Amino acid sequence: MIITVASFKGGVGKTTTAIHLATYLQTKAPCLLIDGDANRSATLWSKRGELPFKIVDERKAPKYARDFEHIVIDTYAHPNKTDLESIVDGCDLLVLPTTPESMSLDALVLTVTALQELKATNYKVLLTMVPPKPSIDGEETMQLLRKSNYPVFNTAISRLVAFQRASMAGLPVYAIKDGRAARAWDEYLSVGKEIL
Ligand SMILES: Nc1ncnc2c1ncn2[C@@H]1O[C@H](COP(=O)(O)OP(=O)(O)OP(=O)(O)O)[C@@H](O)[C@H]1O
Ligand SMILES: [Mg+2]
Repeated sequence: MIITVASFKGGVGKTTTAIHLATYLQTKAPCLLIDGDANRSATLWSKRGELPFKIVDERKAPKYARDFEHIVIDTYAHPNKTDLESIVDGCDLLVLPTTPESMSLDALVLTVTALQELKATNYKVLLTMVPPKPSIDGEETMQLLRKSNYPVFNTAISRLVAFQRASMAGLPVYAIKDGRAARAWDEYLSVGKEIL
């Protein structure tokens, strides 16, 4: 299974999603995370602590890829349409994280429109950083995505400080001492189960 995480907008949770989907897939079979972002956020995450899977940058990827059953690719923000064509052609599933904010959703519409023009069907939207109740932004956005017939994961990822702590500690979120760490991990676990 080759999963790529991408978005036109930056800061929507691509790296956090890539790290946790790789953590999930690693429980099934050896998983390689290819850090395709020049900022190397995923690599830096792993260097601050320890992650349960192998990470290499895209220059090393060809050599390592053959030894892994699953691959997750983290990408840079703001790909152009040509980039997107290569990105979607180069994976089994393209995961598009988006937050329930209008700027993120505007970027998502551009991405999905570009994918539709490319006649791609191997993509799915993941709603991330959903604010806690009483906000209904998450539910409203989910309804909007479904009404627009966008393929969307049933599981949405909550906005939880535990994810920032996990990044700072260089660990998967379940390894963080935080009252909501288990719930945070449960959400990515559910997303993983929707995939495989
Ligand atoms: N579900 C979440 N709840 C709270 N904070 C989150 C969540 N997901 C990610 N974050 C935080 O939001 C910030 C951006 O997340 P992340 O780095 O995963 O996004 P990105 O799309 O990879 O960004 P970039 O476009 O810069 O690569 C980080 O500080 C991260 O810790
Ligand atoms: Mg990133």
